[in-house]
This record gives sequence, C-alpha cells and structure tokens, in this order.
Amino acid sequence: MSSELAGKTIIVTGAGSGIGKASARLFAMAGAYLLLADVNVKNGESLANELTANGKMARFIRTDVSSEDDVRAMVDAALDSFSRIDGAFNNAGVGYSNKRLHLVEQAEWHHTLGIDLTGVFLCMKYEIAAMLKTGGGSIVNTGSVASILALPAAPEYVTARHGILGPTRSAALDYGKDKIRVNVIYPGATDTPMINVQQQKRIAAQEKGTSHQPVLGRSGSAEEVGQGALWLLSDAASYVTGSALTVDGGFTLQ
Ligand SMILES: NC(=O)c1ccc[n+]([C@@H]2O[C@H](COP(=O)([O-])OP(=O)(O)OC[C@H]3O[C@@H](n4cnc5c(N)ncnc54)[C@H](O)[C@@H]3O)[C@@H](O)[C@H]2O)c1
Repeated sequence: MSSELAGKTIIVTGAGSGIGKASARLFAMAGAYLLLADVNVKNGESLANELTANGKMARFIRTDVSSEDDVRAMVDAALDSFSRIDGAFNNAGVGYSNKRLHLVEQAEWHHTLGIDLTGVFLCMKYEIAAMLKTGGGSIVNTGSVASILALPAAPEYVTARHGILGPTRSAALDYGKDKIRVNVIYPGATDTPMINVQQQKRIAAQEKGTSHQPVLGRSGSAEEVGQGALWLLSDAASYVTGSALTVDGGFTLQ
C-alpha cells in the first residue's frame, strides 16, 4: 500500500462513477481521508460504505456542483468531518449532446457549462477559501482532450473544457504565495460509463466523426487517469502548478 496522501483530507467530486470512483479508491489506498460528492446518492453512498468497510475514512454528501449552496455545504461537510481540506479533485462532469452547434438548445448549453465549467469555479471558490485558512493545498481539475482539440458534434462540451484552463491558471497565479497549487488533468478516451454512453449515442445517430486512435492503441482506464491526479495532489508534485497533464495515450499527438 502506498502512502503518498497519508493523512490528507481530499474532496472528490463525481465520485460515484468512472474516473472519480477509481481515483477515490486510489486516494484512500494512499492514506487520504475522503469527502465524496456526487448527484448520484446510491453510487456515492455505496462507495463510502465500501471504503469505510475496508477501514478507510470516507464520507459522502449529495452535491450538485452547479449549485452554489450545494458546493458550500460540501466544503462545510469536509471541514466538519476533518477540520481541513488539503486537496480536491474537481472531476464531476457531463458529456455532450452529439449535436452540431446550430442544433444545440440554449438550455443544453447552460446545463453543460453549468456543471463542466461553472461547477469547477464554484468548487475552487469554496475549497480555496478553506485552504487559505489552513496553510495551503492542492487542487486538480478534470478537463479533457477536448480542452485542446475540438471533438465532432460537441460544441458545448468543447467550450466548457477549453475554458477550464482559465480558472486553473488564474488561481495558480493568484494563490501560489498561499501555498495552493492548482493543476488540470486532460484524460483521453477513458473506459467509463460516460464514454460508453457517448459511444452508444454516436452509433445511434450514425455519426462517424473522425476516427482518432490513441497512439498507444487502446482506451485508458479510470485508474490510469486517477494515478495522474494522485501525483498532482501529492507532495511529489510540490513544484507543479498551473500545469495541464495530458493522460490520453498519445491521442493529441496527431
Ligand atoms: N471518460 C472519458 O473518456 C473522459 C475523457 C475526458 C474527460 N472526461 C471527464 O472526466 C470526468 C469524469 O468522467 P467519467 O468518464 O468518469 O464519467 P462518469 O459519467 O462515469 O462519472 C461522472 C460522475 O459525475 C457525476 N455528476 C454528473 N453531474 C454532476 C453534478 N452536477 N454534480 C455532481 N456530480 C455530477 C455523475 O453522477 C457521475 O457519477 C468528467 O468531467 C468528464 O468530462 C472523461
């Protein structure tokens, strides 16, 4: 068992599934105390129960990251349980509509940006306020290869993901002296329920799009993305801030 996060309190959003769930398991194995957040209560509680049954410290709170009240309550819950926040993995997100821009409804646009971009801002706002009181911390946001490239028929998702570098770098600049590091991780095609849903939608719509294979010739696992987040959260990355770590099997090389 590793100990890179021993005794650190870490918030994981989107912890009920995919990358968030696999990452939470890794962080717990590395010694972290976890505040798990998700809109999916069944999945979030199930993970908290699994981790505590294995002797780990984990608490779940239902959180919609697009709601400021929910995010404030999430951070308060972490402080109530553990008195401090050392790290946060702002990972909750939704996929895309599979529509070209002229077909996207304004409500769909706001929904995706509200979760995938404003949600990250809200989490950072309250996490940073807490970290300022306890001497610093490390924040990792989840972006995507869609933070670098356009994907077909995903304008609202690409916009939200392109936007995520802004608050990441801005906060890295503004809070470095407060010992708060802020980075972003860009997963490529990762084998999670989200990618499966998107693939099904795309096949159903008979959209072929552009066929990009990662250079490594396979999708990544949620654990492989989680390992990148774990490193950025840990003191091993103590000189890394404002960076974007691509974990995409080489997808963005060509
Ligand atoms: N899977 C991929 O290939 C891939 C690639 C690049 C980026 N990403 C990003 O990684 C992150 C995790 O994706 P995943 O593949 O694990 O997806 P997933 O669907 O398996 O998990 C996403 C989790 O976020 C939760 N969630 C959704 N809306 C929420 C909200 N408003 N508030 C709180 N929780 C909410 C869901 O309930 C779910 O548990 C997302 O931000 C996604 O955009 C995924």
